[in-house]
Amino acid sequence: MHPETGYLAHTAPASDKPLPEESLTVTDNRTGKTYTIPVSDGTIRATDLRQIKTAPDDFGLMSYDPAFLNTASCRSAITYLDGDKGILRYRGYPIEQLAERCSFLEVAYLLLNGELPTESELDDWVRQVSAHTMIHENIKKFMDGFHYDAHPMGMLISAVAALSTYYREARNIHEPHIRKLQITRLIGKMPTLAAHSYRHSLGLPYVYPDNELSYTKNFMHMLWKKTEPKYSANPVLARALDILFILHADHEQNCSTNTMRAVGSSQADPYATTAAAIAALSGPLHGGANEEVLRMLDEIGSKDRVPAYIAQIKAGHGKLMGFGHRVYKNYDPRARIIKRVAEEVFQVTGRNPKLDIALELERIALEDEFFIRRKLYPNVDFYSGIIYQAMGFSPDMFTVLFAIPRTAGWLAQWQEMLEDGEQKIARPRQIYTGHEKRDFVRIEERAPGRMVRVG
Ligand code: ACO
Repeated sequence: MHPETGYLAHTAPASDKPLPEESLTVTDNRTGKTYTIPVSDGTIRATDLRQIKTAPDDFGLMSYDPAFLNTASCRSAITYLDGDKGILRYRGYPIEQLAERCSFLEVAYLLLNGELPTESELDDWVRQVSAHTMIHENIKKFMDGFHYDAHPMGMLISAVAALSTYYREARNIHEPHIRKLQITRLIGKMPTLAAHSYRHSLGLPYVYPDNELSYTKNFMHMLWKKTEPKYSANPVLARALDILFILHADHEQNCSTNTMRAVGSSQADPYATTAAAIAALSGPLHGGANEEVLRMLDEIGSKDRVPAYIAQIKAGHGKLMGFGHRVYKNYDPRARIIKRVAEEVFQVTGRNPKLDIALELERIALEDEFFIRRKLYPNVDFYSGIIYQAMGFSPDMFTVLFAIPRTAGWLAQWQEMLEDGEQKIARPRQIYTGHEKRDFVRIEERAPGRMVRVG
């Protein structure tokens, strides 16, 4: 009997025994034994395979799944994604509706609490987040220590990890009220840390938050205020940023969220855990792709050079950055919304000439057999960088802009993981491919430049 499912997972030679309705029957051709394994929610439990043994002392069958191509690591009620149909929903609400009707903090509340807030709940939540936008003066000094051309993502990872040293109570991760306080702090402080990393790279003095402003307007104020007494953010750009934040807020079990859950499963505090997730996001195959898209568009230079660039990709030289997705094999619904936002932003900023190169790239790629066969479509990062650049951000800030809203999703997933009685410290198995036991070789007996095999 399986201890968690309560189902019988057994050798099943008796043909008169009724099989569980949802089950899988497998025969191990090494032993001739047949097993019936329960199926639930379209999955089998990997631990049910362990009963399949060739001898009593055999460890039991494992599944091998490098890069988790076909392994569900958790149950989650936060984000629903259907890659074939191009569907993305947070807590059941279609992303298109949330992007149209909500503010980012409203969506962050939804992700964290499971329901959209009432008016008074939202007011209260906004007030709480605004109360946590300040950072300790020493964190400012800490950021001052970075070299003038430090990458803002490196600064953000380090600054978020450093917060762990300020809030020692944060390690009490099983206390819901302490957890809630750290979640509010992190969401409140992310724009401040991000803006400070940006100002640092420009050699500009840091700007303190203005808590009368909305989340995105305050962020813009901390980024771009110069000598004027009050910075006034363009409302179209502030709303565009809000929408971009909503689109980036969560995306179920992607690389950085998986990192958040894996590191959090060791019961590390939420600052160390979030810093790890930001580090995972920084890679060019994940959140770092938006920065790479801009570099790619720069390299292409003009619309007429797109066919040659695509030919180069097809010949195996590099990847089309901002294209392809592990889950979306149809179209990334976020990319469609972003394209619309781009038009609104360009009405204010003027059209980013890179858009023409991007549109041409998309047009040619979507007609090309190479990309069609591999189901490669523009992902969320393909157009976001073009918008960010038009708004005045340098490419090395793009992934930081991704990390700010994703913090809400990471924390919602972290909280869900902590409350899930089935979760334990994340600890995958391996298939060992190294040497059998061998005896130590004295240094003077070792052969240079080749493996020494003993026995
Ligand atoms: N350009 C050209 N070819 C590609 C691309 C691309 N962008 N993406 C995948 N392929 C090809 C692969 O070479 C492979 O070809 P093959 O079958 O001939 O070997 C095939 O398509 C399947 O690709 P995989 O690498 O198996 O797909 P996987 O699901 O592992 O990777 C990923 C997904 C990492 C997003 C990949 O598409 C990629 O590297 N894209 C570019 C980087 C990018 O835009 N990342 C952002 C993703 S969105 C996000 O993280 C927020």
